[in-house]
Amino acid sequence: MAVDLLLGLQWGDEGKGKIVDVLTKNYNIIARFQGGPNAGHTLEFDGIKHVLHTIPSGIFHPDAINLVGNGVVIDPVIFKKELDNLQPFNIDIKKKLLISRKAHLILPTHRLLDAASEASKGKAKIGSTLKGIGPTYMDKTGRNGIRVGDIEMDGWRDKYRSLANKHEAMIDFYNVDIQYDLAELEAQFFDAIETLQELTFIDSEEYLYQAQRDGKTILAEGAQGSLLDIDFGTYPFVTSSNTTAAGACTGLGVAPGKIQEVFGIFKAYTTRVGSGPFPTELFDEYGATMGKVGNEFGATTGRPRRCGWLDLVALKYAVRVNGVTQLMMMKGDVLSGFDKLKVCTAYNYKGEKIKHLPYNIEAENVTPVYTEMPGWKEDLTKMTSVDQFPKELNDYIAFLEKELETPIKIVSVGPDRTQTIHR
Ligand code: IMP
Repeated sequence: MAVDLLLGLQWGDEGKGKIVDVLTKNYNIIARFQGGPNAGHTLEFDGIKHVLHTIPSGIFHPDAINLVGNGVVIDPVIFKKELDNLQPFNIDIKKKLLISRKAHLILPTHRLLDAASEASKGKAKIGSTLKGIGPTYMDKTGRNGIRVGDIEMDGWRDKYRSLANKHEAMIDFYNVDIQYDLAELEAQFFDAIETLQELTFIDSEEYLYQAQRDGKTILAEGAQGSLLDIDFGTYPFVTSSNTTAAGACTGLGVAPGKIQEVFGIFKAYTTRVGSGPFPTELFDEYGATMGKVGNEFGATTGRPRRCGWLDLVALKYAVRVNGVTQLMMMKGDVLSGFDKLKVCTAYNYKGEKIKHLPYNIEAENVTPVYTEMPGWKEDLTKMTSVDQFPKELNDYIAFLEKELETPIKIVSVGPDRTQTIHR
């Protein structure tokens, strides 16, 4: 049985949580494969809004098993809060939520190191969510990390102590003003570890292998977006994991040949939170309207997101790197009422017009080349089928499909589960 994959194609915040929630009814298992609590996956149904950070977005469905894969980094303190928020929903967490023993743990000192590293960079800061993601993945690849499986064994606290001591020396090295009370942070951490220890830890690659043999359907859920990928994103303004399709193989132990559908999610415009290049960023009324109507504030940090026109050069790059088979366009409703829409179809780069994403996409290197299209006036939020779509929206979609050479199968017209139109 094959594994389908769902990923964000821009700089994150495309609406993956909502789509996983919508698609979960078709799957037995939802498996998160990378990232950690830097993500904020927002789901809305029955008039309630839920924000998940580490727990997969299929958790509210009665039958789906949710797996936190080996590629994910877990902060026990944030994880415990997420579990607390789920309490009113009477979910059988021990049965429905499984955690890979090979997932790495975010320690309190990882968070402090993130803050120290960012503070030391001054204006060149990444704009990290400060959840300790970079330092945790550094310890993972540096072969120093502490994994979920370790906390099942005796003696892991010694390993913890020596790693935390090393981190404290590194924090001192940065020589920045970071105030913290480690004893207090550790008390919270060890309390949360006890909660974690009550959950179900598994050898997830084996579990997924058997699940495939048993004919179970699996959806791998990505976090962040392709342009934040550690290899293919706008380095160094990226996150520290592979957010692209290959990350699902390493982050779950699923063989490449088993991946079937690759669902790529994008917004009808572009947003970015944190620092880094953004060729189509707008500083005018159009950008301000996208931010306001689209409620573009980070689900994890509350920071306002930067907004701009849709960048097809970057989107095409993401479609190709991931091998996207189906696209899903989010937040089409936000563009209602715009007198005109612009779509970036090429860059002017060093005096030349190019259609691929070059190594340098900073404002001094690239200027977007736009195709202008008429906007639509109609409110899309109450629409229930494509037959109700205005001509201008259909033209916009057709133009994107042609440029991206990939069908757009879902158009989302609002945050609620019900505001999802299949084409
Ligand atoms: P970090 O992963 O928290 O270190 O953040 C690195 C960069 O990725 C920053 O620019 C963040 O704003 C961005 N980032 C991390 N997670 C997300 C996300 O879930 N959505 C959007 N941006 C994110």
